[in-house]
Amino acid sequence: MPMPGMRVNARDLLLHLDEIHTVMTKSIKSARPPRFRYEWRGEKHLIMQYESNRGLVQLMAGLVRGVGKYYGEYLNVSIVGNAVHIQFP
Ligand code: HEM
Repeated sequence: MPMPGMRVNARDLLLHLDEIHTVMTKSIKSARPPRFRYEWRGEKHLIMQYESNRGLVQLMAGLVRGVGKYYGEYLNVSIVGNAVHIQFP
């Protein structure tokens, strides 16, 4: 849970997704969580490289938009190969 006074927004959640999936599935033997590698291209353009043999990168676009919607932020999201490009407002 976020500590009081800690600011949580779409950016912070997305930047923690790799850790969330790794920690969440540590004790689940058969789990094969997706991995995410992060790269910034400028201050508002985040690239999330999706690594999983399930090939669900297309699903990522909707999920990332949903995260934005949850936090009341409009995120411009596109898929390029195995990467999700996210433009923050
Ligand atoms: C914070 C809440 C979240 C939790 C607790 C969570 C947890 C999980 C778990 C337990 C799995 C199954 C892993 C396995 O079977 O090995 C999974 C799969 C997946 N998660 Fe999440 N997840 C969360 C949010 C998200 C979000 C917001 C995204 C994308 C932006 C995402 C992307 C995916 C994808 C694409 C898969 C399918 C497995 C794959 O592609 O290999 N998750 N997640």
